[in-house]
Amino acid sequence: MSRPADVLKTLTLGVYIIGVAAGDERNAFTAAWVMQVSFDPLLVAVGIHPKHRSYRILKEGGGFTINVLAKDQLELARHFGQHADDDKLAGHAWRPGRFGAPILRDALAWLDCDFHHQCPAGDHQLVIGRVLDGGIAHPGEPLLYRDTGDMDGANHLFPDTFS
Ligand SMILES: Cc1cc2nc3c(=O)[nH]c(=O)nc-3n(C[C@H](O)[C@H](O)[C@H](O)COP(=O)(O)O)c2cc1C
Repeated sequence: MSRPADVLKTLTLGVYIIGVAAGDERNAFTAAWVMQVSFDPLLVAVGIHPKHRSYRILKEGGGFTINVLAKDQLELARHFGQHADDDKLAGHAWRPGRFGAPILRDALAWLDCDFHHQCPAGDHQLVIGRVLDGGIAHPGEPLLYRDTGDMDGANHLFPDTFS
């Protein structure tokens, strides 16, 4: 019998650093639940846990960036995938997008988005952003979520069986 965790992990997901900013406050966090959801307008969705510090900053700031990680950027995924009391961006080269959210210099590609709307999605919020700008900085192969193993510590959150 197939386990839910094994089946769900066959969905092909990338790994992204979501940048947020409000006033002088900035942060960034690793996310895998990211996808395009509309052509016109050009919309993307990010599944965010509402307890993340970044969620509050995103809502206050009104926009966010999506930084696409490359295959060899596992350590960046790990770094931004943990809560930190100090500045996670210290030591990382970045520039601000239209809302001040960080665009990481070393990411494969980036999108700059404004907050369009959000919908509750179980224990996460689905934040929908309108894509305003973007670029490919370092063409290459993207990092895949399945290659991060249990870096997010989420394996135990899957149910043991399908109900
Ligand atoms: C590979 C990976 C994927 C992740 N995907 C998501 C995601 O899609 N949505 C989410 O809310 N958190 C995701 N996380 C967890 C957050 O990155 C993590 O909780 C982070 O500490 C939140 O940062 P903050 O509290 O500084 O805002 C992921 C973590 C990792 C390592």
